[in-house]
Order: sequence, then structure tokens, then C-alpha cells
Amino acid sequence: MPFPPSFLDELAARNPIEEVVGQYVNLKRSGSNLFGLCPFHGEKTPSFSVSPDKGIYYCFGCHKGGSVINFEMEIEGLSYPDAVRALAKRAGMTVPEDEQYQSRYRRQERLWALNKEAARFFHGALFQPEGAAGLEYAGKRGMPKSTLTKFGIGFAPDSWDALCKAMEAKGYTREEMQASGLVSVSQKNGRIYDRFRNRLMFPIIDVRGNVIGFGGRVMDNSTPKYLNSPETEIFNKRKNLFALNLAKKTRLGYMILVEGYMDAVALHQYGFDCAVASLGTSLTEEHASLLARYTQQVILIYDGDEAGQNATQRAIPMLEKAGLQVKVLKMRDAKDPDEYLRKFGADRFRILLEESSNRVEYQLKAIQKKYDLNIDEERVNFITEAADFVSTLASAVQREVYGNRVAEAAKISPEAMKIEVQKAYKRRLSREKRKQEKIDLAPARNLQTQSRQIRYDNVKSAAAEERVVAAVMKEPALLAEIPELTPEEFSAPILAKVFSQQLQRHREGQDATLTGLTDFTSEEMAHIAGILQRYDGPVNAQALRDCARTIRVEHQTGNVRTEEDIMALRSRLQERKGIKQ
Ligand code: UTP
Ligand code: MN
Repeated sequence: MPFPPSFLDELAARNPIEEVVGQYVNLKRSGSNLFGLCPFHGEKTPSFSVSPDKGIYYCFGCHKGGSVINFEMEIEGLSYPDAVRALAKRAGMTVPEDEQYQSRYRRQERLWALNKEAARFFHGALFQPEGAAGLEYAGKRGMPKSTLTKFGIGFAPDSWDALCKAMEAKGYTREEMQASGLVSVSQKNGRIYDRFRNRLMFPIIDVRGNVIGFGGRVMDNSTPKYLNSPETEIFNKRKNLFALNLAKKTRLGYMILVEGYMDAVALHQYGFDCAVASLGTSLTEEHASLLARYTQQVILIYDGDEAGQNATQRAIPMLEKAGLQVKVLKMRDAKDPDEYLRKFGADRFRILLEESSNRVEYQLKAIQKKYDLNIDEERVNFITEAADFVSTLASAVQREVYGNRVAEAAKISPEAMKIEVQKAYKRRLSREKRKQEKIDLAPARNLQTQSRQIRYDNVKSAAAEERVVAAVMKEPALLAEIPELTPEEFSAPILAKVFSQQLQRHREGQDATLTGLTDFTSEEMAHIAGILQRYDGPVNAQALRDCARTIRVEHQTGNVRTEEDIMALRSRLQERKGIKQ
């Protein structure tokens, strides 16, 4: 009897892989991964990796890998169900009767549907006579209709039962309404009444597009200014960010993190479609790793007051721990981004963004602190380390400006420093090139040698399939970019199976996790984990579409490219290069 998916999701969530593995392996962080000595084969340098974000482990040496469940099986020598039981026990969960969990999942679906209906109701009301006050207030706050539609902003009528009645008519029970947090229960007579009344309503939507809660703003100075949905079975403030459902599609290459709903809305309205807001709580590690799934750089904008500054100080290390690059933007001449944009406009704001202290200076100072510049030897070491760091900066202007600053501190000429930076740059390039070559050559070689059961008939198609699988496991919403691709077009059965299960899970509104995949052998799971670890980094929608096209073309032309074909192609290419030189 299989375990229900929602149970396995919770099992994985309550057994963070880094913790479970950490009981057996001494792990050290490097970027978003943790590394340690592989417990499954003898080694002196760590090639065993754990990715907390993806919930997987993978050894680049012996190619063992998989989810937290596979790890438990492997290290304790347990069967699959026994490993699940052991992890459940560790997390204090009881392994449920199958049915109980099925019904819990169905229940969540009902709550999502109820919240969506409520959002429709509020949004509709905004444009009805009973919503006139709300629409007027939205106008006063500078929100045009397009913004109201984009965010699904609505209005909770000034009534004790408008929503209750409407949802009752849609067939939702009193119990469901209570569980959704949309209603409260009267202490006096036990009746339910609308929680949100006479408020402008901001629906909170998760990355999968489910409405999970609301924030409702009063339209005068009464308190509380914002009333939020309480924590429910489907709403957890620590794990969700307002507007991430929109911001995750941004092409700006960074995300802006603000405090207020209104700030996020205004930023989107003014073209910064990468803004998200926390939900009236301080930033959590869950928020940070959620963000890290969609971007590598975060610009923090908290209010200028002391509370805001404290929040910034707490947030920075949390974001950096998740592997994010952090910039901080200090608000000047306005209380918050919303006010700033309406006062000064998008262009002025863009300048502020560009000026935002980028932590380069901060990092340089940190490097400098390690050395006593009065001692020649230390001065040399300082220059080397600083040049290494400066060489990682993206723009030539930045490299020059900061290079000069280092030169000044180390009392050498800017020219000498420039040469140091160039040397460091070349060192890094060749390091990266070697790494890339390894990756380029990897699919054909690794995949065919690790396992006799998993062989790719069409290596070219399989490489594209691997990318697709890695991308949609990381970000299921990307499935929308490749709507026509079907598992039948895949050349590798194992990848087709992953893809098809992932499609199914996505349709059912479930997250992507390795533990959610069913009916794979340990060897296959390790293989999949290996793919996820190899294709790291952010996913580019265009590249994904290209992969889908490759898969289709290969499928239609029925090409079979064996490893030998690819090797032959490669040596021909190399020969040609040789002739050129
Ligand atoms: P702000 O008061 O800065 O909100 O609180 P804001 O979005 O700028 O609101 P406006 O511009 O006055 O309309 C920041 C965030 O803190 C939470 C909300 O998430 C809000 O967006 N908050 C604030 C609450 O949950 N309840 C409150 O009573 C106040
Ligand atoms: Mn504000």
C-alpha cells in the first residue's frame, strides 16, 4: 500500500535532509550545498553533497543519491516502508491509515477552493454598489483598475454575513468556513460571522497559484490597520511571501523584498515586477530558501525606522545563508517604497536601486581586517585575496573602482593592482572552463557507465530531457512554458516517468519533491538525484523551450545517437579546431 503524497511531503518537510544526514556525516556549507565525506564509500576529500533546497543528497564519487528516505534506507539498511516509519518516528509523526490522509488532502483542496471563491466574491464586490467605499479608497491610494485586477484586490462589504451567505450558497459548510479562517465564531450565541468587514482585501497567493489567505486593510485610522487570515491548514506566514506568485516570473534578475503589501503592489505597478512582501512577520529561513529557488540576488528595503533597521540586520545573514547575494536599500525622503514611488516616480527609484549599498565595500573591509598591512608578507596576501574578490565583480567599471580602492589601501599603484586582478580573473576563468568541460562531457559518460539498467538510446535527446526534468522538479510552474511536451516524446523511459509524475503532481497542486516520486528503484532515485545536482542554478525559460524542441525533433526524426556517435562527433570537432590553430 503506497503512502499518500501529502504524508510523504510532510515527512520530508519535518525531516530536513541536512539534519538527518548530519547525524551521520559532518557537513560543511559551500554555497547552497553542504559537503562532507561520503558515508557510502571511503574517501579523503568530500564529494558527498546535500542540497537542503532540493531535499536531496548525491555523491559525485560513488553516485549514490536520492531523497531523505533513500538515505535512511541506505544508511540503516532498511526497506522503503521501514525507512518511512523510522523517519516518521524521528519527527514524532504517526504513520497514518491511508484513508485518513487521502481525506486530509481532499480537505486542503476544499479550503483552497473556498479561499478562491472568497477572493472572487471580494473582487466582485469592489465593483458593486456595496464596494463603492473600497473602490474610492483604492483610487485614493493610486491603484488603477489594472492593478486591482492583477492582484485580485477586493472589498469585504460592511456586513456580518455577506461572505458567509455567499459561501454557504456555493455549498461550503460552516466547519469548512471556520477552518479557512474567513469567519469567526460568536462567543455569545455560537454563530459564525464574517471575519473581514469593511476592508480592502489583498489575497495572498502561493507560488502554485492557490489562494491561501487574505490581508484586509481598514480605510481609516482604526486598528488593526491590517487584519490577516489566521494560520490555517493551508496558510503559514513563515513559509509564504506576498506577490511571489507574480514576482517569480520576473526577468529583472533580482528580487525586491519589502515589508508592506502596499509597497509590493506599488512596485509592481511601477514596473518593478520582482517585488515580494513578508506577511507581517519577520523574515524566516523558510522565506530565504523559498526566495533562493527563484533568484540569486535580493534587494532588501525595510522602513527607515529603528524596527526596520533591526529587521534588516536580522534578515541579511538569513538570506546569505540561503546562498543569496544581498543588497540593502535605505529609504530616504519617504517612509516606504509606496510613498517614494508616488512622490518621485520610477526613474528616481531606479537610481536609488542602483546606489543601494552592494556589500562589495563591506566584503572588502572584511578581507582587509584579516591582514596587518604594515607587514609586507601580509600585504601581499591581502592583495591576492582582494584581487580574487574584485575579479568576481561583474562590470569592468566596478573592477576598476574597487581595484583602485584596494591599491590605495595596500599602497601599490593602480596599474599593479589591475594586473593582479586580471591574473585572478584568468585563474578563475580557466577553473570555470575546466568545470564546464567536465559538465559538458558528463551526460554521455557518467550516465552510461554508472548503471547497467539505465542506458540512454538517444543521448542528445536524453541530455535535453535531463534538463527539462531538473527544471520542472525545481520549479513546477515552468511546466507552463512547455505545455505541449508529453512524456511520450521522451526517449528515456526513466525521465519520461519522472516527467509524467511531475505533471500529475503539478495538476494536483502538489510541490515537487523527490519523495513525491513513486515506484522508482534506489538506483533510479540516485540517478535522478545526480541529475538534479548537476543542473544547478536558476532556470531559463527560453533554454527550457529549446530543450522541449530538441526532444520533439529527436522524437519525430527517430534519431538514435549512441555514446559512440557523440564521441565520434566530438573528436571530429576537436580535429577541426586543431586545424584552425
Ligand atoms: P505597514 O504599516 O508598513 O504597511 O506594515 P503598508 O503596506 O505600508 O500599509 P499602508 O501603506 O499604510 O497602507 C507593514 C506590513 O505589516 C503587516 C502587513 O503585512 C503590512 O503590509 N501589518 C501591519 C499587519 O499585519 N497588521 C497591522 O496592523 C499592520
Ligand atoms: Mn505604506
